[in-house]
Amino acid sequence: MNRRQFLNYSGRCAAVAAWPALALNAMEREHTIPIASVEFIPDVELELVARPTQHQILTGRATDTWSYSGRLVKGRAGALQPSGSYLGPTIRVRNGDKMRVHFRNELPEPSIVHWHGLEVPELADGHPRLAIPQGQTYVYEFEVRNRAGQYWYHPHPMARTGAQVYQGMAGLFFVEDDEDSSLGLPSGEHEIPIVLQDRSFDGNSQLVYIAGHMDAMTGFLGERILVNGSTRNDLALASAAYRLRVLNGSNSRIYKLAWSDKTPITLIGTDGGLLDRSASKPYVTLAPAERADLILDLSQRPLGSALELQSLAFSGVQSGMGMMGGGMMGRGMGSRRNALDQGDEFTVLRVRVSKRETSRFSLPARLSQPGFHRVEEAGNRPSPRVFPISFGQMQWLLNNETFHMTEVADNEIVKSGSLEVWEFRNTGSGMMQMAHPMHLHGGQFQVLERLPAAGFESGRRTVSMGFTDEGWKDVVLVWPGERVRLLMKFGPFKGLFLYHCHNLEHEDLGLMRNFRLV
Ligand code: C2O
Ligand code: CU
Repeated sequence: MNRRQFLNYSGRCAAVAAWPALALNAMEREHTIPIASVEFIPDVELELVARPTQHQILTGRATDTWSYSGRLVKGRAGALQPSGSYLGPTIRVRNGDKMRVHFRNELPEPSIVHWHGLEVPELADGHPRLAIPQGQTYVYEFEVRNRAGQYWYHPHPMARTGAQVYQGMAGLFFVEDDEDSSLGLPSGEHEIPIVLQDRSFDGNSQLVYIAGHMDAMTGFLGERILVNGSTRNDLALASAAYRLRVLNGSNSRIYKLAWSDKTPITLIGTDGGLLDRSASKPYVTLAPAERADLILDLSQRPLGSALELQSLAFSGVQSGMGMMGGGMMGRGMGSRRNALDQGDEFTVLRVRVSKRETSRFSLPARLSQPGFHRVEEAGNRPSPRVFPISFGQMQWLLNNETFHMTEVADNEIVKSGSLEVWEFRNTGSGMMQMAHPMHLHGGQFQVLERLPAAGFESGRRTVSMGFTDEGWKDVVLVWPGERVRLLMKFGPFKGLFLYHCHNLEHEDLGLMRNFRLV
């Protein structure tokens, strides 16, 4: 926060402006809400409103949902596009754009917006302590510092992230830059966003979510797969090349995406934008919040031919569960929501070539300069920070603790601007172990290495060829038994940021911690 902004905020902050440290503490407690600052001139200015809505998802009754709706106040016409479903409008901006977003909360409970994957200042990051009550407006001001990529936005209130996202609160946020735009990749109607979510409905077409703590312990799995907020999963395409921009927007479901005819998956980008060159994989493993930028070239396929995008079977997400396995939480209970279990196989999309188009597309050999950092330059390379993920007393723990709103442990204080190695250790108690998609706020990281553990190979082998560790990431799936090392260059900002499991039920149960940039 620069001085001017600080004065702005402190203006609403009783009469404590003379003593900055006190003022900040007071604000943390009172949730003083940022307003527009005078000297910030936005390139793109939006209004985003969260409110209860209804959407026709199934045939029959409309479904009660919660949605973001948007209005472009200032900026390019394409900066905000309605999603056509309960999903929030798609935001499309350029690297370097200055953004102001007026977020108004009309939900009957507190909420706040997190710009997932973006490197933004503390007060623009959507920390739960900044959540605003119904009727209030929170003004975000930040510059888009990220490279081109597929990011997204979703709520981040205390213990209610999973529930709010599940009700429909999420939207895409694309960043463009010259490097990406100069490649001639498929665009316009040849660029297709694909948001994957699973939901369960009752007999009245209403959403059904977890029933309680036990339910939440493993994470929620819906039995219907929605693509872009719809149960319609067929795409009529032309004989041309397509860029598919896939987001796993599910609360806890992991996808193992593959083409039904064994065509390899052509991966060109990950969470934080383009790879240096494309990668060919038998399948892509996509954990909650992860993104995959795919090329599907249909130019050689005959008119009328069809292809499916499937999620293939995998196993081992939950291990060593003792009494939990199969019994209390497994299928044994016959609960409805497990009709489509984690690791079950299903069809995601049906693609049909229904229009002839003569287009020539060849993927450039070189896609981008990712600008990766060198591990040799990490200040703490000899002794990386280690963050264990564990389970004890019916609770998930991170760094041996649960989440407390503003608590930061000694090993969670990080120098702003530093380059560091972090290690997540999913080697905790044998009582209950699960794969955890770990997410850091504050930017993108590189996955340095994975150190798998004996005893978990058979499950791990069912997904490991689909890991997308070669690109910039903000989420990494940490398999049971695994130790995963990351290289993260922290932003120039200061303040409180989060790292947590992006299984949203785990996050809400406290598998989340703060780190403080100083
Ligand atoms: Cu997408 Cu802290 O989350
Ligand atoms: Cu988790």
